[in-house]
Amino acid sequence: PKKDEEQMIEAHELLRKFYHHLLINTKEGQEAYEYLLERGFTKESIEKFGVGWSLPSWDFTVKFLSKRSFDPALMEKAGLLIKREKDGSYLDRFRGRIMFPIQDAKGKTIAFSGRAIGGDEPKYLNSPETSIFNKSSVLYNYHGARAAIRKQQSAILFEGFADVISADRANVDNGIATMGTSLTEQHIQMLRRVTDSITLCFDGDKAGMEAAYRASIMLDKTHLNVKIALVPNKLDPDDYIKNYGAEKFQNDVIGASLTLMAFKFIYHRQGKNLKDEGDRLQYIEVILKEISNLENAFERDYYLRQLADEFSLSLEALQQQQRQIFYSLKKKGKGSDQKTRSMITLAPST
Ligand code: UTP
Ligand code: MN
Ligand code: MN
Ligand code: MN
Ligand code: MN
Repeated sequence: PKKDEEQMIEAHELLRKFYHHLLINTKEGQEAYEYLLERGFTKESIEKFGVGWSLPSWDFTVKFLSKRSFDPALMEKAGLLIKREKDGSYLDRFRGRIMFPIQDAKGKTIAFSGRAIGGDEPKYLNSPETSIFNKSSVLYNYHGARAAIRKQQSAILFEGFADVISADRANVDNGIATMGTSLTEQHIQMLRRVTDSITLCFDGDKAGMEAAYRASIMLDKTHLNVKIALVPNKLDPDDYIKNYGAEKFQNDVIGASLTLMAFKFIYHRQGKNLKDEGDRLQYIEVILKEISNLENAFERDYYLRQLADEFSLSLEALQQQQRQIFYSLKKKGKGSDQKTRSMITLAPST
């Protein structure tokens, strides 16, 4: 007899094919298919990513699986069915949703994420954690993108499935995404095996900037080369591609990726009015701290000069202040709780 996990994967594989068939060949799937085309998906990308449609029925999947002799209790463990408390009967977890199959590193379907097409909540319903699906160690499209990542020696991490699929349509085929969660050490280990360069291309809103900041620091700590591609006008990559096209996405977004430090200059500027003296001093102080954290003396010097130029400050004053921060950070590392000195003494050079 087959192991539970094998049966769980087999059920996912059969359903992936059937949901896909429903989306592209049947009257029931027509509205969802048109919704996807309207969003800019193409027939080719729907095929390539195996996108499907689950019927708005309480028991279509229950019957589909029982006809093929899958044990409903096991299918509930696989996250495909839900057990009703009151009478112990089963119902479909995914009903009336666009189905994005989630694959493991071998390309086997181990979970689904289902997007509502109306305003249903949640927008994306994901399979629960199961013995075959662990969110913190799964990256969407890792299997599909792995060869391209190796070849280009670079991976692009997006926030959403739609971003990965649209980027692929725009010939950016080394894209992956988390399952809507933060990046984990396990994800980083998976990526490390295929490349040492990661570009973050998150949504252009505040949440996306914050997530990019956190992820970039994690990646940098593990000594991966990290770059950040910012999407303008608070758009996400999928919206951007739809509005401006593949070429502009390649050149003006991915092609204009920032180094980590250049991103930090922009990140720390958010919400600050640099014409205001207080904001400006705060900004300079936070950048000096970032500079002090750089390991390489040459890099520290390079960014100090940039900061001095930008604010017409004397390089000597900045260097002196930066050294103070540097040593106080070092001391902190050794257990002292001495506070970094404030920046109030910094005056512009004339
Ligand atoms: P977004 O809200 O940015 O969605 O969430 P999106 O990818 O742009 O989706 P579209 O374009 O509206 O279809 C980013 C990711 O967060 C997870 C999903 O993985 C999504 O791709 N998410 C979001 C959920 O898991 N559940 C939700 O309800 C919403
Ligand atoms: Mn097909
Ligand atoms: Mn978002
Ligand atoms: Mn988004
Ligand atoms: Mn989107």
